[in-house]
Amino acid sequence: EKGGYDYFMLKEIADQPDAIADTLLGRLSDRGEIVLDEVRLTDQDLRDVDKVFIVACGTSYHAGMVAKYAIEHWTRIPCEVELASEFRYRDPILDRSTLVITISQSGETMDTLMALRHAKEQKARVLAICNTNGSTIPRESDAVLYTHGGPEIAVASTKAFLTQLVACYLIGLHLAQIRGVMYADEVAAVVEKLQSTPDSLRTLLGQMEDVRALARDLKTATTVLFIGRHVGYPVALEGALKLKELAYMHAEGFAAGELKHGPISLIDEGTPVVCVVPSPAGRGVIRDKVVSNIQEVRARGARTIVIAEEGDESVRAYADHLIPVPKTPTLLAPLMTTVPLQILACEIAAARGLDVDQPRNLAKSVTVE
Ligand code: M6R
Repeated sequence: EKGGYDYFMLKEIADQPDAIADTLLGRLSDRGEIVLDEVRLTDQDLRDVDKVFIVACGTSYHAGMVAKYAIEHWTRIPCEVELASEFRYRDPILDRSTLVITISQSGETMDTLMALRHAKEQKARVLAICNTNGSTIPRESDAVLYTHGGPEIAVASTKAFLTQLVACYLIGLHLAQIRGVMYADEVAAVVEKLQSTPDSLRTLLGQMEDVRALARDLKTATTVLFIGRHVGYPVALEGALKLKELAYMHAEGFAAGELKHGPISLIDEGTPVVCVVPSPAGRGVIRDKVVSNIQEVRARGARTIVIAEEGDESVRAYADHLIPVPKTPTLLAPLMTTVPLQILACEIAAARGLDVDQPRNLAKSVTVE
């Protein structure tokens, strides 16, 4: 049932192009418009939304962080993302025109469920993004958009994450479309790019030999740092979470601009720093800032592992290891840049002789608060 792979995790990583395609299937009209029939909120309900909260835990929370950038950019509705375990304890301001989006692979995460119940008590509308049909979170929500990732067995979340991103993009584009913030042709242009991501991902997955070799090399590192900006920041956090969870190594993700406010003193001769570089197209300013952050850490002895868009030759000079990923628009880039980090963590854990699919102290679904 592992489909010839050594671990469920490797199989689930390889499943990702199909999982994305399945999550897109049936949700796009012939004219490239978003059709979300399972969302039982009316168009009028969605037009009335004046604030979005996304609540989730762990990897699903990182998907929410990426979604915030996309939703605010496309819809111009203020969007906040918060850890489910923190959300209700600070008494957030919610009412009928607040849309609360929960993101959960299992649909049974207690922290997320309690946040959802709190939101409903305050009369907010709740939309669940979930991978498990009929689980508690979608049952208690006003509406649900299922990710069609298929069952995820490995404790570390991989294909659920990428399909959650796709679901978030669809919701963002749908909101922008029905509120008239984006023209149909603008939505169609993004949709076209989304539809091409499974193929790009297949290409990327075929080019991971170097990452595997790098993993064997990094298995004795005492700490690995991850940096990124904009949507690359949650990708950095996700890369660090995977490494902690699977390889039991010290790993931390930072917003690259925060390094100089403290964490840069962690860097010593040879400290591996994984850097997620945004596409030079569109967001050139952010990219240039990340490149100068890479230079800063390198000047202090870091060994840089740079994930950058293929063809972006100018980063090569600062990369001890360069991992090129296919060209993708900035907001969609986490669908590519996350994947080498999943493989890196999985292979480092395997090289350390650890149980990749069932790391110590963890459960696939966390049903306690
Ligand atoms: O089932 P959920 O998406 O609600 O689970 C949330 C987290 O427990 C989960 O993403 C966890 O962080 C993963 N093990 C990370 O790989």
